[in-house]
Formats: sequence, C-alpha cells, structure tokens
Amino acid sequence: MKQTEEHLPLKEVRAPVKEVRAPLKEDQASLEEDRVPLQENQANLEEDQAPLKELDEWDDFVATRYRQGKSEEEFRNYKADANPTVTEFYRQNHKYQTLDFVLKKKAEYCGLNRGQKSIWEMAEYLNTLVDDSDPDTDVTQIEHLLQTAEAIRKDGHPRWFILAGFLHDLGKVLCLYGEPQWAVVGDTFPAGCAYSEQVVFPEFFAANPDSGKPEYQTQYGMYEPNCGLDNVHLSFGHDEYIYRVTEKYLPEEAQYMLRYHSFYAAHRHGAYRHLMNEHDEAMFEWVRKFNPYDLYSKGRERPNTKEILPYYRELISEFFPDKIDW
Ligand SMILES: [Fe+2]
Ligand SMILES: [Fe+2]
Repeated sequence: MKQTEEHLPLKEVRAPVKEVRAPLKEDQASLEEDRVPLQENQANLEEDQAPLKELDEWDDFVATRYRQGKSEEEFRNYKADANPTVTEFYRQNHKYQTLDFVLKKKAEYCGLNRGQKSIWEMAEYLNTLVDDSDPDTDVTQIEHLLQTAEAIRKDGHPRWFILAGFLHDLGKVLCLYGEPQWAVVGDTFPAGCAYSEQVVFPEFFAANPDSGKPEYQTQYGMYEPNCGLDNVHLSFGHDEYIYRVTEKYLPEEAQYMLRYHSFYAAHRHGAYRHLMNEHDEAMFEWVRKFNPYDLYSKGRERPNTKEILPYYRELISEFFPDKIDW
C-alpha cells in the first residue's frame, strides 16, 4: 500500500472510492494465499458457505427485528421477517460456532499477525465488499460507518463515541480474509455453556456438537457465576476482531460498544446476566446507548462524504497512530 493518506480517494464522494480497489489487489493476492487452508477446511462442509447475498442482509434483518415501534407480539414473530437466506445463515452460524472453533479463531486472529495498515486503508479494503447490484439503495460499508458516526455526532456525544461508530464494523474484513459469513456476522452468544432461548433461532443449536456435551450444557457450563464477560468466549465474529485491533487506543466504554454490539441476547433481552459482573452491567449502559445508532442510522440520508471526511481524518489521527496491527 504505497498511497499516502493525502492521496486516498476517500476524499472524493462515492464513485472514486471504488477506484481504490485496484491498488488493493496486491493485498488481496496475499490474502488469497492465506485462504487456501481455510477452503480446504471447508471443503468437507456440504453447505453453500455464503447463503447471504451480502453481509448487510444480516444487518437488515436485525434492524427489521428491532424496528422502532414494533409490538412485543410482532417482535416474537421475528421468523416472519427472516427470508430463507437469513434463516440458512443462522442455521450454519449456530451449528458451526463451537467452543473449539471460537478458540481456534481467537488464536488465529487475536494475536494481530496480519500486518500493519492504517484505519483508512482498512476502511477502503472493507469497502471492496460493496455489492454493486443495486448501488442506489445499498449504502457502502464506509457509508454505513459514516452514517452511524454522524448520527452519534449530531446527538452531541463525545469524540470517542463518534469514533466507535466509525470503527464498529471494520472487523467485517474477516470476510475478505476468507472467513465464511457465519464466522463474521450474526448475533453473538457464549460458547461453553447452555444456550439462551433469547438468542434468535435457538432451535438451530441442536446441531451444534457442543449441544451433545453435558459439561457445556449447564447454566454456567465451563464458567464461574458472574465471572465477567472478559472471561467468556462469545461466538467469533467481527465484534471480537475489531475490539482486539483497537482496544489499546480506545476508552473502555468504546471497547464495550465494539466488542458486544452484536450480543443482542444480552444487551436487548437481558440474557446471560449470570455470567456478567457488576462492571459489565455498568458498561452495558454504553452498549445499549450505541445500539440504536447502529440499527437505525441506515435509513438516513447518505452522508456527504467529501464534506465530512476531514473531520474523520482528524478524529482518527487523534486516537490512532498512522499504522496499527491487524
Ligand atoms: Fe456490526
Ligand atoms: Fe453496523
């Protein structure tokens, strides 16, 4: 990546953002190599590993599930909002996110051994995930990050909170590393203990091999009562990865927002409190404060990227060095 930040096409509006794909190809070539062993791993899996047409399909489903003003009865009927691809996605997610899998992925990614990149470079890389099939209605990945951050900024929240909005989905680059959709997005849940009925599609956990291990199927499973979420292994995905990448640069409130933003069973439904400690309880106030911006900023007008970019450049450089480990 030879471009300097001053020359990043991000300064322009949406169309030129796409041009950044060309220089990213070099990176992608090396990533392709990394993908080989993964694909071998997956070769024995029978299913199509990418049931969602695009990752946003999951986000859209979650937003519909928690649509503002929905009655309790409408909410409980969430399956009516799930199209077959979303349902298939959850079936795979619940089946394959075993404790072993989570530990393996944490060992693979949380040491941050994939090289150095700036936040901007990663944002542009993530933007290559954009689906061009309907560019008028689909916001790009960067636009979703900016919409979320801008909604937070408009409400007068602190700079680190706005920054958390911009960063929160950057971990979706896991998809570009070759991870299947079920290992990148989806509501997160603890592995190694009983599954809560508050997790969407709880019936799909029956196919998870951990369901057959009695030691993981008690209320606490492998954990101590109120051991604190830092000691709990949540299903692996973009939340944990971006938390690990950014944790040493951000205040703890922002760390919680990033790490637990997909843990809907806990922050929306109060499940798994028996694993949380008092500190988690206090910090989850911030996770709950963050969530509406993630869910409901999408319908807003498209951000004027050109106009707001200088603000975000400055914001990012206030908290991050030029390059960080990924
Ligand atoms: Fe997310
Ligand atoms: Fe998001």
